[in-house]
Amino acid sequence: MNGRRILLVVSGGIAAYKVPEIVRALTRSGHEVRCVLTAAGAEFVSPLVLQSLTGNAVRQSLFDAGEEGAIGHIELADWADAVVVAPATANLLARLAHGLADDLASTVLLATRAPLLVAPAMNVNMWEHPATQANLTTLRERGVRFVGPDAGELACGWEGQGRLSPPEEIAAETGLLLGSLSLAGACVVVSAGGTREPIDAVRSLTNRSSGKMGYALAAEAALRGAEVRLISGPSHLPTPAGVERIDVETSLEMRDAVLADFERAAIVIMAAAVADFRPAEASERKIKKEDLAEDAGLQLQLVRNPDILAEISAERGNRIVVGFAAESHDVLAAARRKLKRKGCDLLVANDISRADAGFETDENAVILLTPDGASEELPLLPKPEVAARIFDRIEKLREDRR
Ligand code: PMT
Repeated sequence: MNGRRILLVVSGGIAAYKVPEIVRALTRSGHEVRCVLTAAGAEFVSPLVLQSLTGNAVRQSLFDAGEEGAIGHIELADWADAVVVAPATANLLARLAHGLADDLASTVLLATRAPLLVAPAMNVNMWEHPATQANLTTLRERGVRFVGPDAGELACGWEGQGRLSPPEEIAAETGLLLGSLSLAGACVVVSAGGTREPIDAVRSLTNRSSGKMGYALAAEAALRGAEVRLISGPSHLPTPAGVERIDVETSLEMRDAVLADFERAAIVIMAAAVADFRPAEASERKIKKEDLAEDAGLQLQLVRNPDILAEISAERGNRIVVGFAAESHDVLAAARRKLKRKGCDLLVANDISRADAGFETDENAVILLTPDGASEELPLLPKPEVAARIFDRIEKLREDRR
């Protein structure tokens, strides 16, 4: 974990006075630190202080020929093993969420492929504003990690959530981010979203999966340094940073895509809601009411789709194969039966009868089951956190196998 390269982006909030302590905590752990200051950040902390503490010139401008000549902004983005934004103002979060690149800090944040840790600090009303919360959700979905903000008395006089986390905690989270590049060199295949089975030229059979759970898993795998192949049913979600996305529609296309990457995969996670049945025949033209006898219904014949999870579990060799189970009642018993039937290494069961978990929600409540009969019930957590807990378990399985 020692000796990694941290790019620290400092935006303009009063909490920036704590940045020298963050730098000291990071350098004490043996990391090399370079700082980028926004114009507002430079109002709160002196570049000279940061230069003295890091031993590196502080970057402030995209257009300063001297600074750019020493190390260009793309070089800086590529240089980092991890990027930490502390403090992150509401303005910087908004620019990051919307992909703006109108100064050095936002440009470097857009250009880097390194994992990102963000430590917000702002007035409680700004933090709770729906715009800030929406930006937060977008960034979480892209795999950005957050530390804080903490609750307490704020510099502006208000009481509430908005305080920058303690420097030691930010440094510790940075260490976790770096130490968790534990999947470097491994190819992880994640399926996500629902499949769409055509009935005719305009209609299809599909389900309520948004892709949020699978995308969160893909983002987490990328954060841990894996090469990630995300095989996605139709979804409006943005592709997480560092993830290769393959779009599919039907179960048969999903099967082909999973099998195409199976050979090189070390871990395969089937989070997709794959249709068990498809129409036996899909009409290339729109089926019209007028073509049917008056008042006649439309009979659809459905045929079974191949079970991708069962197929890859049977052929898995050294790979770790993870399945999901969407259950509406008697969750644990049904999930145990499914784990046995599918033959995977880990089954993640969600109770889809809950309104606050399962399909489409931002949070999920799952039970992790393994073939040895063990089960672990997780509390209701944001899907990115559920994804992190699932990968902790997968890594433990890999360790045990070694
Ligand atoms: O996408 P979100 O809105 O975030 O919702 C997340 C989720 C609820 C879709 C997800 O967490 C989930 O539970 N995914 C699996 C849903 C499902 O299809 O469950 P199942 O019990 O029908 O299937 C069990 C397992 O077999 C799944 O891993 C599924 O991918 C796999 N399967 C199913 C059918 C099939 N023909 N081939 C398969 O591989």
